[in-house]
Amino acid sequence: MIYLNNAATTLQKPPEVAQAVLDAMANAGSSSRGASADDLAAARSVAGARLRVARLLGFEHPERVAFTLNATMALNTAIFGLLRPGDHVITTDFEHNSVLRPLNELERRGVIEVDHLPADSAGHLHTEDLDGMFRPNTRAIIATHASNLTGAVVDVAALARVAHAHGAVSVLDAAQSLGCIPVNMGAIGADIVCFTGHKALMGPQGTGGLAVSPGVELVPLVHGGTGVKSAEPLQPESYPEHLEAGTMNAQGLAGLAAALDVLLDLGVERVEEHERALRSRFVDRLGQIPGVEVYGIHDGHDHTGVVAMNLAGLDSSTLADRLAYDYGIATRAGLHCAPRMHAALGTLDRGAVRFSFGWYTTEHDVDAALDALCHIAREVG
Ligand code: ALA
Repeated sequence: MIYLNNAATTLQKPPEVAQAVLDAMANAGSSSRGASADDLAAARSVAGARLRVARLLGFEHPERVAFTLNATMALNTAIFGLLRPGDHVITTDFEHNSVLRPLNELERRGVIEVDHLPADSAGHLHTEDLDGMFRPNTRAIIATHASNLTGAVVDVAALARVAHAHGAVSVLDAAQSLGCIPVNMGAIGADIVCFTGHKALMGPQGTGGLAVSPGVELVPLVHGGTGVKSAEPLQPESYPEHLEAGTMNAQGLAGLAAALDVLLDLGVERVEEHERALRSRFVDRLGQIPGVEVYGIHDGHDHTGVVAMNLAGLDSSTLADRLAYDYGIATRAGLHCAPRMHAALGTLDRGAVRFSFGWYTTEHDVDAALDALCHIAREVG
């Protein structure tokens, strides 16, 4: 199997990750729930992951990195925790349902109003429209760092600058960027960064979290035991307990810490360069295949290692199935939980086939995908 679905999850991980999970299965007790060697090992694994995430983000407050199960839960924590009745929120057409649905739900309940920064049919986000969208009650701008469909990178620093000029909070969905493009919280002006551990960070599923800048107030989404300050009737105000209730995923976080060690040694810039080179190789030849339509390519704009396309009149699921069953190539078809982006591109009916590269993707993998697409194009052409 040639695995080109890294935007969904990275299948190939550094070997240190599985080993760390295995070791933690044998040795880690429960973090903050005892003082035995096993419990301390669990506490070290959780704290170790926290320190490494903060280092990757250039964030000076590791205690304000709270772990969740995934980016969706981190985004729900940020959205439900931040927004109050009467607030207005700006988000974008690039968003994944992990942003759209919590916002839609709050809007349906009559709690907030939401506006979307539009993408056009070429997959270009009209950031120049942003300033005029702010209202006196705009509480936050919530934006992805990169489209999970086209790979287009958003100038989130520019969005944050406008948000701050209007006194709004900048919330970043880094699910598609952390680990494959540099994300420095200070440099990009993000007040909250939500991330997942199992994509470009190359850690286990069941790990993710959010980094919350000092001064940003969140009402916790989940309430319960923290192992400390147990006499307090309410969720403690101190971080990370404020946003972490229940037993922590010490095994998963041990794996995440191991993945982060590899990534921090490697340098995110190298991953970015690798994916950019693979993407260029793919897109250059893709354009020569008759019947291929590639979405959201913009010269002079950055992209992650993600490409969305369709071939001739084929439904995206038919093409992805052929790639999987006849050529052993894993991609993702359909709508990618990004309905507004597909609506902008005009692909809501048929979806698109998404190829997404990772650190372990090779030029051979890319060429095999191109060869397979050439064969199929000849058949249907
Ligand atoms: N959000 C993930 C994707 O884009 C699951 O595939």
